Amino acid sequence: MCGIVGYIGKAAAPPVLIQGLRRLEYRGYDSAGMAIVENDALIVARAVGKVANLTDKAKHDWPASRFHQPSYGIAHTRWATHGSPTENNAHPHLDASGNIAIVHNGIIENYRALRGRLEAQGHRFFSDTDTEVLAHLIGSHDKGDLFQAVCDALHQVEGTFGIAVVSLREPGKIIAARRGSPIVLGIADGETIIASDASAILAHTQRVIYLDDNDIAIVTANQVDIRDLHNVPVNREIAQLEIDAAAAEKGGHAHFMIKEIFEQPDCLRNAIRGRLDFHLGSAVLSGMGTSPRDLAEIQRVVLVGCGTSLHSGLIGEYAIEDLADTPAEVQQAAEFRYRNPIIGHRDLVLAISQSGETADTLAAVREAKQKGSFVMGLCNVVGSTIARETGRGIYLHAGPEISVASTKAFTCQVAVLLMIALKLGRARRFSRQEGIEFARGIESIPALVEEVLALDGTIARIAEHYATQQHAFFIGRGPMYPVALEGALKLKEISYIHAEGYHAAELKHGPIALIEPGIPVIALANDIPGKDKTLGNIEECKARGARILGIITRGDEEAAAVMDDIIEIPACHPLIATIPTAVALQLFAYHIARIRGCEIDQPRNLAKSVTVE
Ligand code: G6P
Repeated sequence: MCGIVGYIGKAAAPPVLIQGLRRLEYRGYDSAGMAIVENDALIVARAVGKVANLTDKAKHDWPASRFHQPSYGIAHTRWATHGSPTENNAHPHLDASGNIAIVHNGIIENYRALRGRLEAQGHRFFSDTDTEVLAHLIGSHDKGDLFQAVCDALHQVEGTFGIAVVSLREPGKIIAARRGSPIVLGIADGETIIASDASAILAHTQRVIYLDDNDIAIVTANQVDIRDLHNVPVNREIAQLEIDAAAAEKGGHAHFMIKEIFEQPDCLRNAIRGRLDFHLGSAVLSGMGTSPRDLAEIQRVVLVGCGTSLHSGLIGEYAIEDLADTPAEVQQAAEFRYRNPIIGHRDLVLAISQSGETADTLAAVREAKQKGSFVMGLCNVVGSTIARETGRGIYLHAGPEISVASTKAFTCQVAVLLMIALKLGRARRFSRQEGIEFARGIESIPALVEEVLALDGTIARIAEHYATQQHAFFIGRGPMYPVALEGALKLKEISYIHAEGYHAAELKHGPIALIEPGIPVIALANDIPGKDKTLGNIEECKARGARILGIITRGDEEAAAVMDDIIEIPACHPLIATIPTAVALQLFAYHIARIRGCEIDQPRNLAKSVTVE
């Protein structure tokens, strides 16, 4: 999704901005641009496509000195919402005078009305964007005080924004503000970096300030002055980033996705470390801030999330009902607030989000808080909005996830959900011995994943047989059903093969009409309750000529006998098996996409962090 970088300090802005934009490329975008204030000129460059195109353009059009002499500026990667990905629609956008430039993440919902009013006053627009309307609106309020002009404009705006604004009339400062779209300020020695994502700041400093909604900051090289939209100063603490720049590099791998797949044993160890109590047979999750009594009183658990995080929530639903005898249900975050959910103070709402910034999940958190329920976040990004707004929850400790297709965050989410289920289970029906046994199962997850990663070569060879297909079906039962959904999502995201995940029993209620000779069916036929029925469903597909790739429990000859190809997973508890099985499907999707020559880390049309509804 769109990315923002701003720089003000001793150096030349263009190289710093370009480096920052590169760090944000993983979020997904389709055009890029930057505006530099140098001496008394405002210079803008924009390009469709990659940041490399913008760099080439700037290097070609601008004097070399611009890359060396001090300047400050703002830059953007745009993921098209209003208007197609053209140079005209790329940010920065200028106001009517051409003196003010703005970059913007989010959506101005009332932009049509605002645009109409401005047009009636004689404003002319060159793009289809809501952002250009905001630029003109700020310009129309500018009476010589940029901060006030931005405040006045933002009072008229409905929707979400993270913005950075510069004006030629007020050199030496950048105004930044947020509502709904994150803005982080990096505080370095004599320079300040503004970004929508801490990964663009890492190379400069670990000291950051996160803006809250409706904060507006006057940023100079040496100072950050934060106020609310009524010009009342607000105090925001400086936080320390806990990620390092090396973690955001590919470390010798061809793609971030495969690097992150292979990091999973370590990530899972980090997610689990210190959180299992083998004496009590429970989990230690201090971020939950709950006593066993609080847990015993929880009436229902509602899990909300989007995309891959929704799928981990579905596994969590099985785990919580199974281990803790507690009703649990998953709700799509995008539906949650619009359906006026029935939730109350004895309901625990778990908001699952890798980024902690997904607009729909954040809205669900706010709705659940409004209804007085007990809300927790399961986030990976420390200090993200959902983590801060929930105030309690559990971090995944998966480290920065750069690849758009989520892998390590998913398996860490599942591991954390299993620990929550264990903790809830112990507060309810689990005996100490049962708790200890399940805790041992959780402890074994990193090693199980290592065993699957050792099959990388085998899975790559199997992928050769499936890489030319246009369609694929993934089927599973019980906790393997959400894994089937996730397997299909991974494949379609990065290989553009049309892939569908179904409950194995549902296939015959419609989708089987599409099964014809050669169609791949990826069957999660692990040796768990219901396996026999899944094998029956596989026979139905085989009878219609499908090619079956079975994910089976190691040594299960009965299952192996019905498959065309197999990937064997070590034997373990059915809930634990979801993780190694998902890893096998991640490798399968990765190799298919690699063979097909797809752009794995930045698939078309997709964004890492979706901060719009
Ligand atoms: C986007 C990403 C997905 C992710 C989803 C939810 O669609 O491409 O990989 O699962 O957002 O993101 P979150 O950060 O809330 O987990």
